[in-house]
Amino acid sequence: MKALITAGGKGTRLRPITHTQNKHLIPVANKKILDYALEYVKEAGITEVGIITNKGDTEVQDVYGDGSDFGLNLTYIPQDSPRGLADCVRIAQPFIGDEPFVFYLGDNIIVGGIKRFVQQFQENGTSCHLVLSKVPDPERFGVPEIKNNRIVRVEEKPEKAKSDFAVTGIYLYDHNIFEAVNNIEMSDRGELEISDAHQYLIDKGLEVSYSEITGWWKDTGKPRDLIEANRLVLDNVERKIEGQVDDNSIIQGRVNIAKSAQIINSQIRGPVIIGEGVKVKDSYIGPYTSLDKDTHVKNSELEFSIIMEEVKIYNQTSRLENSILGKNAAVAKSLRKPAANKFIIGENSRVALL
Ligand code: G1P
Repeated sequence: MKALITAGGKGTRLRPITHTQNKHLIPVANKKILDYALEYVKEAGITEVGIITNKGDTEVQDVYGDGSDFGLNLTYIPQDSPRGLADCVRIAQPFIGDEPFVFYLGDNIIVGGIKRFVQQFQENGTSCHLVLSKVPDPERFGVPEIKNNRIVRVEEKPEKAKSDFAVTGIYLYDHNIFEAVNNIEMSDRGELEISDAHQYLIDKGLEVSYSEITGWWKDTGKPRDLIEANRLVLDNVERKIEGQVDDNSIIQGRVNIAKSAQIINSQIRGPVIIGEGVKVKDSYIGPYTSLDKDTHVKNSELEFSIIMEEVKIYNQTSRLENSILGKNAAVAKSLRKPAANKFIIGENSRVALL
């Protein structure tokens, strides 16, 4: 069994963060989104992994190299233009060969991993196994129609959904998928749709089996959704306090503090994750917050936020919440006169002041 993971695309919906970073490398609970995919695949017992990247873009390769840090053997497969998910499968055929494989959209996070789906696929012996999740807005996804516990149709972003399910970004295939992706036509949005490939298999009389899951996240457009992913993952964080916590600090609930972090005269209320080199002084850190490496928080209150590496948050008079701060950003209130707001804000940034 092999794995094929997508890690290309433009990430336009997550700007400004994606101006300087591939969206798959954004941290969720202090871990890159793509790390989750690689860990899940490894946990499922798969080591041969192809990664689809944008042609000419080496950002992902620079981070993961040959994959040995994850115990994987990675092969990078460049896609010259964004021609759709079925095209990703099509160009990966030389890498996959005749083996069954899991196709994983690298921007999806699945709490609990994918091992169980790989096992279900192997037990079922079907040509295609889809992982479904109930969503409030199925029209934005691939949607299955289910009759007598069988998928009888799959439609991509239908006007009227035939079920409450979305097809998530975890697909298991045998070699039949290659005939499908080589025979479907471009859709109106100019892509080879993976849903059309699934429909091709159904029309050919092959059984498409499925599993249902909860705890699925996919970026849905707004930065707020990224904070939601952070919440989903932090909901499963374990209490582990390795860093220094002074006697004046209170740590409540499931809080994970890395070894070289320092908490001074502060209150931390979990679920929270605090990375290496972080310093929190005279502050409150509330639920569903992640502070990545070398971030400093002083004299401030902060909650429900993603704070990336080397951020500085000083002297906030009102609580910061629902926020995403990119690497090396600073939010600091000057205690000196003249008292004025000073901003250096990049394209597509958003600031809401009290
Ligand atoms: C893609 C697929 C869609 C699937 C979704 C899951 O949508 O086309 O069928 O439900 O991924 O992440 P897209 O990200 O292209 O909107």
